[in-house]
This record gives sequence, structure tokens and C-alpha cells, in this order.
Amino acid sequence: MRMYDIIDKKKRGGTLTKEEIEFFVQGYVDGSIPDYQASALMMAIWYEGMNKEETTNLTLAMASSGDMIDLSEIPGVKVDKHSTGGIGDKTTLIIGPILASLGAKVVKMSGRGLGATGGTIDKLDSIPGFSSERTDDEFIRQVMEIGLVDAAQSGNLVPADKKMYALRDVTATVDSIPLIASSIMSKKLASGADVIVLDVKCGTGAFMKDYESAKLLADTMTDIGRMSGRKVYAFITDMNEPLGRTVGNSLEVLEAVEVLRGNGEERLTELCMELSKCLLIMSDVMGCGDYRNEGLRDKAEKMIQEAIVSGAALTKFREFVKAQGGDDSFVDDPLKLKQPLYSFDVRARESGYLASCDASEVGNVSCILGAGRITKEDKIDSSAGIRIYKKIGDHVEAGERIATLYTDKEDILDEAAKRFLDAYQLSQNNIINRPVIYNL
Ligand code: URA
Repeated sequence: MRMYDIIDKKKRGGTLTKEEIEFFVQGYVDGSIPDYQASALMMAIWYEGMNKEETTNLTLAMASSGDMIDLSEIPGVKVDKHSTGGIGDKTTLIIGPILASLGAKVVKMSGRGLGATGGTIDKLDSIPGFSSERTDDEFIRQVMEIGLVDAAQSGNLVPADKKMYALRDVTATVDSIPLIASSIMSKKLASGADVIVLDVKCGTGAFMKDYESAKLLADTMTDIGRMSGRKVYAFITDMNEPLGRTVGNSLEVLEAVEVLRGNGEERLTELCMELSKCLLIMSDVMGCGDYRNEGLRDKAEKMIQEAIVSGAALTKFREFVKAQGGDDSFVDDPLKLKQPLYSFDVRARESGYLASCDASEVGNVSCILGAGRITKEDKIDSSAGIRIYKKIGDHVEAGERIATLYTDKEDILDEAAKRFLDAYQLSQNNIINRPVIYNL
């Protein structure tokens, strides 16, 4: 078999066989297929797409390209949730403790942010002492002891994705449905959860800009999961403005704590509630039920509210932080987290209703403040970021504060403020707001 022929076949719209896909994945991981041939194939897939069978074969070949975590030692159903990436998305920090406090077993491997979108591991790293490195034994023990773990992807988990994602990132081939679906689902399959809830983001701050492509991505990932024997449910959710009121690592951790205290922003709280309900119902805590069952949804909602009101979810969050070496005292005293040198209020240029937002651009602003990486080597400033006071649909007066920027870099504040304001459009008419979840 020759890589040249595989590229040529896909370029002409052909369907790749399981053997051809495995030949490519194995060869790319062992170094016998060079980057230039792999990028040519990525681009051919970007143009020509892949059918369901090809996408599933690619996912399985990628999943088995390295270690597969064996969670069979942990009794019962293991649950996981995954977001396709957005701005201000701190839902994992909230949902994990809620579910674990109710008895579910949450096994989570998270990523770091790159470019405009944030990553849960970067957020957790803003907690003094917190370690996202877990050996397989520690990973399993922690789930058995407290019901919740969140670790960075370990060294040899899906090496094919590590190489392919890095290549896609620099060859403009990230935004391809079969490539995103196989990248995400290969990691989910290798990290071993039985139940996977997907949060497919849709809008200006997401890879998928419109509902149709988000739905296609959601369906593709759901099919792959089910064909591989996992229970999967996918939500399609709004990413046309940052989620909640903060963007940036320590700011988002503190906002997550507020939601766990019952004081969360409305749309963020609604999304966390729905994702938690779905995971809880599909877990063995509620007999591996059907999320569509209204009686179960009502029951799950009551249980989750009780976990928040009683403080059990916040207590579980503290337990989780301590289990991974972190100092949980910041929960009572936020000043224990690194503080930024500068803060700067961004004010409306004119009066009107906030009508729309380029959420990716807000993510870019957060990056230049220091909260994200432009290249993999960049260092993150955990205290950098944005606190947002006005959401789409809100009215603002000229001169009114819309947001505060936080950074250690004084010289970029003017540019950041300008870009932040330019990311929003005002209208003189009131806007009817979009739902948080499109496919409820
Ligand atoms: N997240 C991933 O893990 N992979 C992609 O391709 C896109 C988002």
C-alpha cells in the first residue's frame, strides 16, 4: 500500500477502506509517513469529507494508536462530558462536583486551550498547588474515593490525535466535521467512560458557526459513540457570546464556585443544569434512564438543586481540588489566587441594545491580555481575562461600563479595549434572545 495512492483516492472523492485508514494512522504515528503527506490527506478530507463508516474507522484507528485506559476496576457506570470548545465555557468545573456529590462517577480528561478557546486544565492550573497530572493508578483511585477526577491527557493516549491536531492547526484543516468528530471521539473512547454527554457549541465563538453543521457534527459523534458501545447524548448549545460573565482562567474558576453556591448567571446555570440532568439520568444513580423521560428530568432537577442548596456540590468541589493537591482556601478568599497588575473598565461608545457579539474575537482579546496561548509554548497568566457585565439583549447607556479587562501588560490595554468594543454590535431595537440549548 502507498500513501500516495490513498491521498490520490481521497482527492478524487473516493471512499477509503479500513485498511487504508489504518495504514495511514499507524504510519503517521510511527513516523514512516511524513507531515507533508499527512497534511495532503487532511486537506483532501477537508474538501471531500468522509462517510460514516470511514469516520468511524478513522476514530477507531486513532483511539487504538496508543494506550487505552482500562476503568473496569471501578464498579458501576462511568460518565464523561465533552464540549467542542468555546469562550468562557467553565461547565466542566460545575457539573463534575454536582454529579459526584450525587454519587455518579465522573472520569474526565481535559485539554488546554489553544487560540481563542479556553481549556479546563488551564483553568484548574490557576488554583495554587493543583496538579492535572495523574498516573493511571491515581486516576482510578481518585474516582473510587471521591467520584471525580479531571486530568490532562496522559502521555501516550491517542498519539495519533496529538500529531494530527498539531498538523491541522497549522494547515487550516481544523474545521472539518470528520476530523473534529474523530479527534474528539478517539479521545473519549480511549479514556474509557461508558456514558458520554457532548456539548456541541454553535455560533460565532465555535468551530461550527451554524445549526446545520453543529447538528451534523453532533450526529456524527453520537453515531461513532453508539457504534462503539457507549451511551451518548449530544446537546447543541449557543456560543454566540461568551458563556457566563467571565473569560480567563482564575476568573472562570471563581465564577464556577458562584454557580455551585447557587448564584450563577442565568444562561450558564441553565446549561449546567441540563447537562447535569442528562448525565445523572443516564448514570447508574438513576438506573441508566432515558433523558427524554419527563418524570426522570423533574426528579434529577430536584436532586441537583438539593446538591447546590445543601452545599454538597461545593463541598465536593473542595474535596476534588484537595485530592489533586490544590489549596481550596481560595473558595473563601479569592485573593489567594494570583491578582492581575492592571484592570481597565471598557465603556459603551453609544447607547443601545447589545445585539450581537463575535465571541471568537472576545476570546482573542482574552488571549492578548495573557489568558490564552497564541503558540503552544506561550505562558498563561492565570489572572488575566475579562469580567462581562452586559449580555446580548441588555440595554447600555453611552459611557456605561460593559466589561473590565485584567492583565499584567499595561501596554496592550488600549488595543484590547478597542477590539473588545468592536466585537459587539449595538442596535436601537430590543433583541429577542436566543435559547441556550437549541435542541431541547
Ligand atoms: N477539540 C478536539 O479535541 N479536536 C478537534 O478537532 C476540535 C476540538
